[in-house]
Amino acid sequence: MNRILITGALGQLGVEFIKYFKNLNLFVLATDIRECKKDISCEFIQCDVLEKNKISDLVKKNKIDTIFHLVATLSAKGEEDPFKSWKLNIDSLQTIIKICIKNKIKNVFWPSSIAVFGTDSELENVPQNPVLNPSSIYGITKLAGEKLIEYYNQKFSLDIRSLRYPGIISMSSKPGGGTTDYVMEMIDSAKNKKKYRCFLSKKTELPMMLIDDAIQSAYQLMSAKKSCLSVSSSYNISSFSITPEILKKQILLNGFEIDVEFRPDFRQQIANSWPKKISDTKAKSDWGWKAKYNMEESIRKSLNF
Ligand SMILES: NC(=O)c1ccc[n+]([C@@H]2O[C@H](COP(=O)([O-])OP(=O)(O)OC[C@H]3O[C@@H](n4cnc5c(N)ncnc54)[C@H](O)[C@@H]3O)[C@@H](O)[C@H]2O)c1
Repeated sequence: MNRILITGALGQLGVEFIKYFKNLNLFVLATDIRECKKDISCEFIQCDVLEKNKISDLVKKNKIDTIFHLVATLSAKGEEDPFKSWKLNIDSLQTIIKICIKNKIKNVFWPSSIAVFGTDSELENVPQNPVLNPSSIYGITKLAGEKLIEYYNQKFSLDIRSLRYPGIISMSSKPGGGTTDYVMEMIDSAKNKKKYRCFLSKKTELPMMLIDDAIQSAYQLMSAKKSCLSVSSSYNISSFSITPEILKKQILLNGFEIDVEFRPDFRQQIANSWPKKISDTKAKSDWGWKAKYNMEESIRKSLNF
């Protein structure tokens, strides 16, 4: 992993991956459909990931050996137009896989999500291999993606690796329309002394992770020896779980004031089909995963960012 292409590089995770890889002195080529208006201290090309020939040329020209394919329409946004969501999430993955086969790139990171589970998935503490019955279009695309990477890994000897990320908390990069965005929104409101209307009910418990752990886990998984990996689809990964009510308490405990009105909307239904906790024993035993930040530290760090 020396010369990395990131797709969807201006998104919540992308900008943080760029910083992490630049600190490791790795070559990074960032791409996104949006114009880049900030200095992200690496090469940037504005292009649609579905433009296969353009991405393929970039890969060849820049001698890329690893791809972090981060483009996706997230859970809440995905419900606005499920057809568009499927097209972007699945066609972009297929495009990247074709480019990898053509350019002999084996190493790819593709994030899955806790949206891949569903109401039959033992949601109190979901195991690595539960029944998967996602009900959002986002979750359905993540399930299809997991199956595709298993298939292509085997058929074309690729090495696409994946994590089922929980909700990611990052204060420097804005979330892109997911069901766990309320965490950052409530923290932002507290910092700006604004009232917050929460779109989930106060007792909705969901798994979350600080961005630092999200980036570290991907790097650790991508650096692990292939022989250590026993999961060929996507690894469950966990840090802590939280409810909007507990987040509010944490904000107050850290000396901030916050007035929250709980007004669940359509996102509540998505959240109800997601796990409360995730068992990540396989990630721990296979490649030594351990989250660095617990709930209290993650919230404190985000409030003081
Ligand atoms: N953020 C989370 O909490 C979370 C949780 C679980 C999984 N994930 C997964 O991690 C990955 C990254 O998520 P994120 O939160 O950074 O998403 P995001 O929505 O913040 O960023 C996605 C980026 O993709 C870009 N994009 C959209 N269409 C494009 C196209 N056609 N061509 C090129 N670029 C395009 C967007 O401009 C955006 O910058 C996704 O696969 C997502 O499913 C994220």
